[in-house]
Amino acid sequence: MYTYEELKKFVEHCSRCPLSQTRNKAVMGKGNLKSPVLFVAEAPGRNEDRDGVPFTGKSGVLFDRLLSEINLSREEVYITNVVKCNPPGNRDPQPSEQELCIPYLKYETLMLRPKIIVCLGRIAAQRLIDPHYKITREHGTFLFRKNTWLTAFYHPSAVLRDEGKLGEMQADFQKLKEKLGEIDACDFTSNSPN
Ligand code: URA
Repeated sequence: MYTYEELKKFVEHCSRCPLSQTRNKAVMGKGNLKSPVLFVAEAPGRNEDRDGVPFTGKSGVLFDRLLSEINLSREEVYITNVVKCNPPGNRDPQPSEQELCIPYLKYETLMLRPKIIVCLGRIAAQRLIDPHYKITREHGTFLFRKNTWLTAFYHPSAVLRDEGKLGEMQADFQKLKEKLGEIDACDFTSNSPN
């Protein structure tokens, strides 16, 4: 197994796919390595490409607000992306790019051993839950697989584009809060083996 710092170095120097030629900074996941909750979005945006940190743009501001509504902060969770480099023009990451990048997410998951994985948006949900996942129909539902609860919420950018989705997103965060209570995973200081 690698340490967080080792993995971060691999990510930052990665040249496995063509995105490495157009990115400014590769973006390693960030947060509490003992968190029971792992959030996985799709790929860094322009702000993140500049800063080298996930969710620093407008989506990140909304994400922080939604977390705070369930009394959580960025320091208590871990957030990462399926693909660690910004795709040109903010397009969706292609399946081949996802395939080459997914080992980093696997290592992050092994490192964290989260009790709950929350996919943010369709791309992450289709990658981690089901290739036919329908985010509009299935968001906020939990399934238990390999000792981990899996769910998907809308991507914050979808809510920024359509304010009408905000209520559903807030309700999904409440479900996360309930799930954390149910599984008694509120100890954010130890990730004992599942
Ligand atoms: N959107 C994402 O999917 N990931 C980020 O890190 C930022 C915006």
